[in-house]
Amino acid sequence: MFYSEDVVEEIRTRNDIVDVISSYVPLKKKGSNYFGLCPFHNEKSPSFSVTREKQMYHCFGCGASGNVFTFVMEYENYTFPEALQYLAQRAGMELKTRELSPEEKRQADYKSLLRQMNKDAANYFYYLLSQKQGQAARNYLEQRQLSNETIKKFGLGYSDKYSDDLYRYLKSKGYKDEDLKNSGLVTIDEKGATDKFWNRVMFPIMDVNNKVIGFGGRVLGDGKPKYLNSMETKLFDKSRNLYGLNYARTTRRSEMIICEGYMDVIALHQAGFTNAVASLGTALTSNQASLLKRYTENVVLAYDSDEAGVKAALRAIPLLKDVGLSVRVLSMAPYKDPDELIKALGAEEFEKRIREAKSSIMFEIDKISAEYNQNDPEDKTKFQKRAAKRLAYIKNGLERNNYIEAVANQYFMSQKELTALVNEYGLTIIEGQEQTQQKQNEYRNRKEQKEENKDQSQKLLLTWLVNEPKLFENLSGVITPRDFIQPIFYDVASRLFLQYEEEKKVTPAKIINQYTDLEEQKQVAALFNTNFKMEVDPENAEKALTDIVKKVKQDSIEHAMTQSKDILEWQRLIEEKKKLQNLQLHL
Ligand code: UTP
Ligand code: MN
Repeated sequence: MFYSEDVVEEIRTRNDIVDVISSYVPLKKKGSNYFGLCPFHNEKSPSFSVTREKQMYHCFGCGASGNVFTFVMEYENYTFPEALQYLAQRAGMELKTRELSPEEKRQADYKSLLRQMNKDAANYFYYLLSQKQGQAARNYLEQRQLSNETIKKFGLGYSDKYSDDLYRYLKSKGYKDEDLKNSGLVTIDEKGATDKFWNRVMFPIMDVNNKVIGFGGRVLGDGKPKYLNSMETKLFDKSRNLYGLNYARTTRRSEMIICEGYMDVIALHQAGFTNAVASLGTALTSNQASLLKRYTENVVLAYDSDEAGVKAALRAIPLLKDVGLSVRVLSMAPYKDPDELIKALGAEEFEKRIREAKSSIMFEIDKISAEYNQNDPEDKTKFQKRAAKRLAYIKNGLERNNYIEAVANQYFMSQKELTALVNEYGLTIIEGQEQTQQKQNEYRNRKEQKEENKDQSQKLLLTWLVNEPKLFENLSGVITPRDFIQPIFYDVASRLFLQYEEEKKVTPAKIINQYTDLEEQKQVAALFNTNFKMEVDPENAEKALTDIVKKVKQDSIEHAMTQSKDILEWQRLIEEKKKLQNLQLHL
């Protein structure tokens, strides 16, 4: 690691977690914990808790947990070194205040280098737009009716006609060829360096924390390709970001609008719809759907009205519904996209269309109906069958009946007949689903469930040890770190047991420090935050403890047996397992 363990630990102890988190999230004291609304998922009643004793936070809603470093890494999207810098500064500690050279930065963290490079590029493009060579681009943006304020808010820029000026600019800032290549901003071969973007209006793409991670670039006027986009890098994962979400995440509106294009998002924000986002030159992904679910319960699709847009909407709907979002679809007709609609009819009309947006099911059925000639009896029958089949997939009975009624009305069918048809399909669908469900359950029961139970007992025991360190004494000679089978559990247990041995107390937040990867940190933090109260009845704590320890020990012995072929070792393990039956622990 870049900084010594001592320094890291000092920074941690000088930043009390309650103080740090309070500056981001209002917290209220309740018992020995502090509670607030979780900043990592959307909620209305507080399930986010911070504990001064443990120096950790834990959300009972979404499961987010960690120490003070994890928190700022998550919240600010910082890397570990950045979190260190930030918290050192906050505590008034001197920690290498000088500007690091690009090479040092590369060592500290590659991602932050790419981030800095994208930021420098964005500043450069923004600067060019204001210069003489940016005149045509300025005219273009003006013709598209973007205000200066909007241009500034979205950091729009211009990449000029030279083929390597960005390259030269970034070189002058000290970046190396190899890193520049990996940023996707330039290509470098035998013939030299070439900027990826030339003579285009530049749209910086920002993550939810307002950090530039890539670009889209549009030709001025007609020309192909219309948009070029940065390739994916360590920093830029197209499937996990959404254009405009950095602004839309704080919207006061109750839904999010998803559209197709950068210009749509910008036009919508300019018209006051600060809840608009778009996917990044690709089809919407399920990761993007989950990302949205953190911020809202409802989405309105505002895709283009052409065939491609309808297809994209039909593909996006199931992804969005799968994460539990309610989905409606806005009618764009007769315009192509939100940008054009707003320019032609204004914000009020768009507002009206949001209110009138169809549920995604009615939209789907509408699109099915368009494939058939409703005046041809044979075609009409085919349509009715397909509509019934779609309706049969609606799980909730009340909802299904409401849709049957709506469809029957809209397409002039008898409600009774449609219901009968839906029920007919329903039976076969339910049977099919039950069969797959049953198979999945069997598989789970056999394998995963067993693994999960093992993990759960080990997690419970780790949480218990952290909550009541005197347990280390009770368990001495019974449980050792070796009994925690999974590598990461073993690793954490070893550190915890060592801490107790050396200091006669445990500091879980310190253990989290020793992992620098955010995902690992979160995983470790979760080990100390098992939902203890739900699983351990205080009245029968001794029995619960005995049961958990027995389970952990038994799993550990069984695991050792699968690892050994030695007969003597087996005999010893079998003995140990027998003795386990009589184990009785006291608190
Ligand atoms: P559209 O072709 O609908 O463009 O592409 P648009 O948003 O209406 O753009 P304007 O109004 O003509 O400027 C929608 C989105 O698809 C991606 C871009 O993300 C674009 O915003 N796209 C489109 C590309 O990545 N490359 C292309 O060549 C075209
Ligand atoms: Mn457009």
